[in-house]
Amino acid sequence: MSEAVAFPQDRTCPYHPPAAYRPLREARPLSRVTLFDGRSVWVVTGHAEARALLSDTRLSTDRTNAAFPAPTARFKGLQNRRTALLGVDDPEHNAQRRMLIPSFSVKRTAALRPRIQETVDRLIDAMEARGPGAELVGDFALPVPSMVICALLGVPYEDHDFFEEQSRRLLRGPSTADVEDALERLDAYLEGLIRRKRTEPGDGLLDELVSTRLAAGETDVEELVSLAAILLIAGHETTANMISLGTFTLLRHPEQLAELRSDPSLMPEAVEELMRFLSIADGMLRVATREIEVGGATIRPDDGVVFSTSVINRDEAVFADPDALDWHRPARHHLAFGFGIHQCLGQNLARAEMEIALGTLFERLPGLRLAADPDRIPFKPGDTIQGMLELPVTW
Ligand code: HEM
Repeated sequence: MSEAVAFPQDRTCPYHPPAAYRPLREARPLSRVTLFDGRSVWVVTGHAEARALLSDTRLSTDRTNAAFPAPTARFKGLQNRRTALLGVDDPEHNAQRRMLIPSFSVKRTAALRPRIQETVDRLIDAMEARGPGAELVGDFALPVPSMVICALLGVPYEDHDFFEEQSRRLLRGPSTADVEDALERLDAYLEGLIRRKRTEPGDGLLDELVSTRLAAGETDVEELVSLAAILLIAGHETTANMISLGTFTLLRHPEQLAELRSDPSLMPEAVEELMRFLSIADGMLRVATREIEVGGATIRPDDGVVFSTSVINRDEAVFADPDALDWHRPARHHLAFGFGIHQCLGQNLARAEMEIALGTLFERLPGLRLAADPDRIPFKPGDTIQGMLELPVTW
C-alpha cells in the first residue's frame, strides 16, 4: 500500500488523472494519501468499493465535524459552517433534498431544453458576430450554465459578474480569509434576494420555495440561503468546466470528434463518456463515524476518506482500456456525479446543457480549432474542480 502520495495533485494533462496517482491505480481499491497539512487519510480508488462506501451511512459529510478532512488550507475556512445538502447527513439531508427533487426531474429538465438551446444559439450568434476567434470559457462555457441556473432559480443574470467572482474566490481564492469573505458576500446577497421575493415574487425555484415552504414554516431564511448558495455554485461552475474541458478534449481527439460529427445521435453516449474520462470533481470527501471493514482495510472512526473519481472511473475491472476515449463503451455507471444519497441533484440538467452546448458548438462552427499551443493553454489546479482556465479558439 502506498503511504507517500500527496493528495490532491495537479494534473499533468488536463484530461488525465495526475501522473503521480499511478501508485494509487496500482494499489486499488484503497490507499493512504497525505493531505496538505500532513494528515494521512484513506483514498478510495476501486469502483465497487466506492459505490459501497458512498452508500454507507457510517461515512458522514458533516463538515462541522472536527475530524472532517480538509484538502486545502482555504477549505478550512468552509468548515464549522452549516452547508445545505452536501454538508448534512440523513434525515436532515433527505428533508432538504425532497424540497428540490421535483424541480430537477427528467421531465422538468426536458422542458428546459428549448430555453437552453436558445441561450446557446444566442451566445454563438454573438461569438460569430465578433469573430472569428473567441475565448471560449468567458464567451460560452461559463455563460451557458450561468444563464440557465439563474433562470431556473430566479436569480437576476445581471448579477452574474458578482456571483461568478464569489464562486471563483470560494473554489480557488488565495486564502481562508478570502474564502470566508466570498461566502459572507454571497450569503448577504442571497438573503437580500430571498427577502425581496417575499414581497415581489417571480417565477423561479427560489420564489416557489419562498411562497410555499417558507410561508408554511417548513424552512427558514438561513436554510434557503444555504440551499440557494449550493445550487447557484454547483449549478454553474461544474458544467462550465465540463463544457470548456470537453471542448478541449474533443479538439485533441480528432477521430472521436469526426465520428461524433458524422453521427450526432451519439451525443448522449459521448457526454457520458466525457463525464467518466474527465472526472472533473476529483476528490469527494467524507469522515467515518464508525468502524468499516472494506477492501481488506479497516477504516476507523474519525478517519478521513476521499474518493478520487478520476482513478475510480478508470478502474479496469469495470471499464476496459480505461485511458481511451470511446463513445461505444457503456460509461453510464461512472461515478463522476457521485453515488448514494448525495449523488448530483443537477445531473439531468447538466447532461442537457452539455449535450446542447457541445452539439451546437461543433455543428455551427465546423472549423472550430484551438488558437494557441495546446500545451500552453492554462488549466485549473488539482485542488479545485477541473477545467480550463481559458480556451482561445478560432474557426
Ligand atoms: C457536469 C456538471 C456537474 C458535475 C461533474 C457534478 C458533480 C457532482 C458530484 C460529484 C456530486 C456529489 C458530491 C459528493 O457526494 O461529495 C454533486 C452533488 C451535487 N450537485 Fe452536481 N455536478 C454537476 C452539475 C450540477 C448542476 C448543474 C447542479 C444544479 C443545481 C448541481 C447540483 C448539485 C447538488 C445540489 C449536489 C448535492 C446533492 C446532495 O448532497 O444531495 N450539480 N455534483
